[in-house]
Amino acid sequence: MVEMAHIVKRFGQPPAAAAVDGVSLAIRERETYVLVGESGSGKSTLARILVGLERPSEGEVRWFPPQPGSAFAAHGHGKGGVPSSPVQMVFQNPDRSLNPYWRVQNIIAEPLVLQGMARREAYALAGGLLEQVRLPRGLLLRRPSECSGGQKQRIAVARALALRPRLLVADEMTSALDPATEADMMQLLMDLQWDSGMSILFITHRLDAVHGFADRMGVMRQGRIVEEGEAASLLRQPSTAYAKALLAACQYT
Ligand SMILES: Nc1ncnc2c1ncn2[C@@H]1O[C@H](COP(=O)(O)OP(=O)(O)O)[C@@H](O)[C@H]1O
Ligand SMILES: [Mg+2]
Repeated sequence: MVEMAHIVKRFGQPPAAAAVDGVSLAIRERETYVLVGESGSGKSTLARILVGLERPSEGEVRWFPPQPGSAFAAHGHGKGGVPSSPVQMVFQNPDRSLNPYWRVQNIIAEPLVLQGMARREAYALAGGLLEQVRLPRGLLLRRPSECSGGQKQRIAVARALALRPRLLVADEMTSALDPATEADMMQLLMDLQWDSGMSILFITHRLDAVHGFADRMGVMRQGRIVEEGEAASLLRQPSTAYAKALLAACQYT
């Protein structure tokens, strides 16, 4: 569905080390791809390039079918007059990504309103989007400060789903959650994927919860993908010492 070819990203001039140093990665339809690696290995930079928030120094991102302009920007009107966007992203910190002064209803409806949908129509869809992420409609009139951390991340997912993306990029979206809430969130993502057929790129520096969730995995280190494969076999038998060490740092080995 989308292919990143030989991506390099340098901040500053060479010989500064590249944040992303020649990564090629493809994500298929309906696939959950989990990208792991220690902090600073280039995961977020790669994700930002994928969604079009950042330009690569070298290489290119190809969508199939091709997307005009940035894939992140919504364009055109999809089925039933609802605007759509091929890719949406959810970030680690909902307190930075959700406007604290807005009600949940406004937050979820905003991507639709920005695309020209009437506010009343967008609000009418917001309740259904909340239900999709298993939250009660009663939250529509609350503000983020009146919600738990797990609820805030579900609200961020509901907002991302408003534009019915083909790919959801989740960058450390569960890293600030406790393990039980993280497990619930990953189950929700699996259910949403089952219902919608979207693909998921899930980025994390923790391997604890990816068992049974990931289809394929890539291990990133110092700007490169040092190991990639089917998740079940990679988790069972990592071939690099680095991946082994990452696994050993988690609960199971
Ligand atoms: N906007 C930026 N300007 C300069 N350096 C950056 C910028 N964004 C990321 N970097 C650097 O790129 C490297 C990779 O960062 P990042 O992609 O955030 O890694 P990760 O998400 O794996 O923790 C780090 O060394 C980081 O300091
Ligand atoms: Mg990051």
